[in-house]
Amino acid sequence: DGLYTVSLIEGDGIGPEISQSVKDIFEAAQTPIKWEPVDVTPQLVDGKTSILPETIESIKRNKVALKGPLATPIGKGHVSLNLTLRRTFNLFANVRPCRSIAGYKTPYDNVDTVLIRENTEGEYSGIEHIVVDGVVQSIKLITREASERVLRFAFQYAEDVNRLKVRAVHKATIMKMSDGLFLGTAERVSKDFPSVEFDAELLDNTCLKIVTDPTPYNDKVLVMPNLYGDILSDMCAGLIGGLGLTPSGNIGDECSIFEAVHGSAPDIAGKSLANPTALLLSSIMMLRHMGLNDHAQRIETAIFDTLAEGKTLTGDLGGKSKTHEYAGAIIKRL
Ligand code: IPM
Ligand code: MN
Repeated sequence: DGLYTVSLIEGDGIGPEISQSVKDIFEAAQTPIKWEPVDVTPQLVDGKTSILPETIESIKRNKVALKGPLATPIGKGHVSLNLTLRRTFNLFANVRPCRSIAGYKTPYDNVDTVLIRENTEGEYSGIEHIVVDGVVQSIKLITREASERVLRFAFQYAEDVNRLKVRAVHKATIMKMSDGLFLGTAERVSKDFPSVEFDAELLDNTCLKIVTDPTPYNDKVLVMPNLYGDILSDMCAGLIGGLGLTPSGNIGDECSIFEAVHGSAPDIAGKSLANPTALLLSSIMMLRHMGLNDHAQRIETAIFDTLAEGKTLTGDLGGKSKTHEYAGAIIKRL
């Protein structure tokens, strides 16, 4: 029937409201997508956080999911559901672009960064133990396999979007073995992509330079281990106005989950005050991933034009509009 089915994780707090905006806008744009809502209530199986088998099946079958913010249940021995999802589906590359938004003023007006974060290991491996009282070890696990996988992805991405410079961000001067392995793998993988320029930069230096002048990063794809990518991607988001405005895609071989990185904002939930832009831009990344480029382009233009016009903004952007009024203004432009 020409329809693509996408699993939908509406999420907690403001999740259902911002998901509704995406659904309304997609419907108005006649996007050929059928949503399949899935339940991600965390299950404790053998002491480990997991999700329902039918949810796993849905996402594996559809190969694509859109996800709102999920709160991590506290005190039941659960690990973050966000991490559980990345792990369950082996979503090894996390793509996080940040582009300045016309109409939203920050100290920079020309930001266009792309960061690719290793998404399965590093400090996120979840290997921690107490050695003796007062002494703990949290293991940073780096493997050649996972490094190579995300690095190949980054080089391939650079070719695909014609952004032909890849920069590995690392701290191999201190993390000689782990980051050394990542960097060495990057150098080796770069040889397989002769059309892509490759260089490397120390993470602290990247931070210093990117907040001083982000323009030299506008032609690069930054690729790095997990925790560095977590932190640096928030820094990049800060350059353009915060996590309410930035998309993210978790990419794996079998399936991919596109998500807003911001929290569930329980304080404003249910009041139609939330800004759905981050989830919307994530859903546009998703459309492009699915090859629905024309729909992506149309909706994206309507979003950016609405933001630039500045008449129907949500409170976080200094406006007075409700979530659904902002979505309605986007729909009018379609
Ligand atoms: C992110 C978030 C997550 C992370 C949290 C919610 C586990 O900060 O997606 O960047 O640390 O990866
Ligand atoms: Mn983060």
